Order: sequence, then C-alpha cells, then structure tokens
Amino acid sequence: MSTFPIKQEIIDQFKEDLGIKNIAYATIRQIVNLVNKLEQKYQVQFIRTEMGVPGLPANRIGPNAEIKALNEGVASAYPPIEGIATLKTELARFASLFLNIDITPEGCIPTVGSMQGAFVMFLVANRRDANKTKTLFIDPGFPVQKRQLAVLGMTYESFDLYNYRGEKLKDKLEEFLQKGDISTILYSNPNNPSWVCFTEKELKIIGDMANKYDVIILEDLAYFGMDFRENFGKPGLPPYQPTVAHYTTNYVLLFSGSKIFSYAGQRIGALLISDALFHKRYPDLTRLFNTDRFGLTILQEGLYTASAGTSHSAQFGFAAMLKAVNSGEMDFVSEIKTYGDRAKVMKQLFLNNGFHIVYNKDEDRELADGFYFTIAYNNMKGDELLNNLIKYGISAITLDTTGSTRTEGLRICVSQTGEDRFDDLKERLQLFKKAYPTI
Ligand SMILES: Cc1ncc(COP(=O)(O)O)c(C=O)c1O
Repeated sequence: MSTFPIKQEIIDQFKEDLGIKNIAYATIRQIVNLVNKLEQKYQVQFIRTEMGVPGLPANRIGPNAEIKALNEGVASAYPPIEGIATLKTELARFASLFLNIDITPEGCIPTVGSMQGAFVMFLVANRRDANKTKTLFIDPGFPVQKRQLAVLGMTYESFDLYNYRGEKLKDKLEEFLQKGDISTILYSNPNNPSWVCFTEKELKIIGDMANKYDVIILEDLAYFGMDFRENFGKPGLPPYQPTVAHYTTNYVLLFSGSKIFSYAGQRIGALLISDALFHKRYPDLTRLFNTDRFGLTILQEGLYTASAGTSHSAQFGFAAMLKAVNSGEMDFVSEIKTYGDRAKVMKQLFLNNGFHIVYNKDEDRELADGFYFTIAYNNMKGDELLNNLIKYGISAITLDTTGSTRTEGLRICVSQTGEDRFDDLKERLQLFKKAYPTI
C-alpha cells in the first residue's frame, strides 16, 4: 500500500511539535526538520527541494590544496585579515577573466561565506552617511539577509521585481531612492528563489541609479555562471557573467565558493570591491570607526571584529580552484551544469501535471533552467499547496518568506534530486493531480 497521502493529523502533530504555526512562514530549517520526522516515521524518502545545498561533490583540487596547506602548518597561524596573497591575486584574475572587470587584488577579500560578506557590508556601508541608513532589496530574495539587518538593528525597504522588469525598473527604483535614505541596494543574480536573471538593460538602469543617488550596489553572485542559457565559463572570452560593475563603480560583488565549487561546508566566499569604492573616504564612518576609509573600515573594523579573517586552509583551497579555473584547467560551468539539466526535466514534470511556473520570463526571454524554479497550482495559496505536496512526499518552501508578492508560489530547488528520483517525482505528482484535479 502506498504511503501517500500522508495523514493530515500526523503532519499537524509534527508541525505542533516543531513550533510551526503557519507553514507559509516556516524557516527552511523547520521544513527540513518536519520532513526528517515524516521520513523517519514512514520510512520513505521525500523528494526534497526545500534547501539550497549543493548536491555535487567538490572537485578534489580544493580539498587537496587544503590538506597540503594544513600539512605545511597553516592551522596554527592566524590568516591575514585581508586574505592570503595568492587568493587575492586569483580573485582579481577571476574578475578580469569571467566578469571582464578590473579590480586590484587589494579589493578582493575573502569572507566566511558570502553570508559574512553581506553582514559586514551592511555593518559598514549603511553607516557611511548619517542620512542613508537603509538597504533596498530587489526581491524576492534570500531571507537570511533581512535577518542580518534585523540583528544589526537596521531597517530595509523592498519590492518584488515581478511587475517591474525592463524599463519599469527605473521608476520603481527612483520611487525609493528619491526619499534619500537608501544606502545600499541588494539583489541576487541569478535570483534566489525565482531564477530571474537581470538583462543588460536592467543592470544598466541599476548602475545609473547607483551613480545618480550615490547608492552602493551589493550584487550577490552566489550563483555565478549558472544562467546556463549562455556559457560564462570560458576564461577571457565573451560572453561574460553580466554584472552591474559594467555600469557603475559604486559596487561590491558578493562572491561565494558554495555553489560554483560545491564548497558550502568550508564557508568561503569573497567581497570584490571596486577600486574607487575601496579608497573612498566617508567622514561619517568616523562616528563609529577608527577610519573614514571604506576599504580599511571593512578590513580593520568589520572583518576583524566579526571573525579576524577567514579560515586559513579554506583560503588555500579556494585559491587553488580559482587558479585552475583561471588557467583553463578546470571548467566550473560543466561541473555544475547538471543543475540546469535537472531543472529542465523537473520543470516539465510539474508542467505535465497541471502546475505553472510563477516567475517565467526575463523580459521577453524564457527563464533559464538552473538551481531553482517557482511553481503554483490551480488557485491554491502557497501554504496550502506546500501542505498538500508534503502529503505526497514532496517538500519545498513557500515564496512568502522571500519578499515575493506571489503568495501562491513555491520554490523548488533541484540540487538534491538526482536523475534516479525522477520516476518517484513523476508518480507522486500524478497522485497529487488525481487528488486535486486541475481546474
Ligand atoms: C542568494 C544567496 N546569497 C548567499 C548565499 C550564501 O552563500 P554562502 O554559502 O557563501 O554564505 C546563498 C545560499 O544559499 C544564496 O542563495
């Protein structure tokens, strides 16, 4: 007899045990716990799409370089806060070869995941001008970044880009920026959760706004190169990963080793700060910090107080992988392209069973297949849809927590679903459709 549908009473009881009042606002970790409990009780493997963990092994180049560095004794030495020289050089080379931008190694600074990069940027950038204290999120987005602002005692504004693609983005941004209190704008590109990728036109609009209103753009490139419609993985050759850095010098790129190198466990990323911004002086910084210089404040106040730098061996691992990629020995895009291949199949399975894609276009272009996509069904609200999918052994998160206005939607992450699970997914979606016929 099939386990599915799982009884609602059991789901409700587990929700109660875990303190989940409304599944729409459950954190990803709460959903993980709920599904773990259900898997254990029913001895069944869910199709797990709730958490954006890399589902691939790391290339051996990274761990091997770390092991070598550890054997040579780096564990006992504090790493330089600004990062080891080889990593800084390789980061700057990477920026030149894959983004087509020039940054001196000085502005390329390792962080404990890009998560720490964002935290430290908020901490410094939102205090550079007494009148500009807020971050504007171009949502939907990564919920933890809003939590970071909350724990820093800072406030934010946000809007859902769904209705503001292309030219419309300009007026929408101006609506917020004209108030004069926005210091930083943050978005991810490709976007977690929607997988929207900004067009060049949109990036230019954002860059122009940064120049006009002296706003710092925090461009989160956690999913670097993962718009697989193009191959952004050829060193020194176009096409390059699109970036706002082509349109303004008021930028900091939040770079991460977690997804492109499947290196999430080592918690390593980097800040790529434009030369102009790195050397800029902001007198208001001295209200809190010992210097008025932006780059020095990041290093000597932000990163020093947060963690006094980034794990020494992880820096060696990151540097080795970047070096391999920069010199053309390792093709990072082909190593992770499997996410795009999975998304293509999984999306089609959902579509075949009456679902539709919520965020589906980049202006007039079909969205790329990649790490995430968004789905909705009939006129179900997101919480109802998630609850019903869980009954059929499929987990996800709602878009409610991401700042999206599309409360009918769920985010599907493909990283934990290999080809061997596609038949299960198909079967479960068919059972779901039978129970909730399309209207
Ligand atoms: C948009 C976005 N930014 C940042 C991160 C975190 O990256 P890291 O592991 O480098 O801290 C994630 C992780 O899922 C993400 O989705």
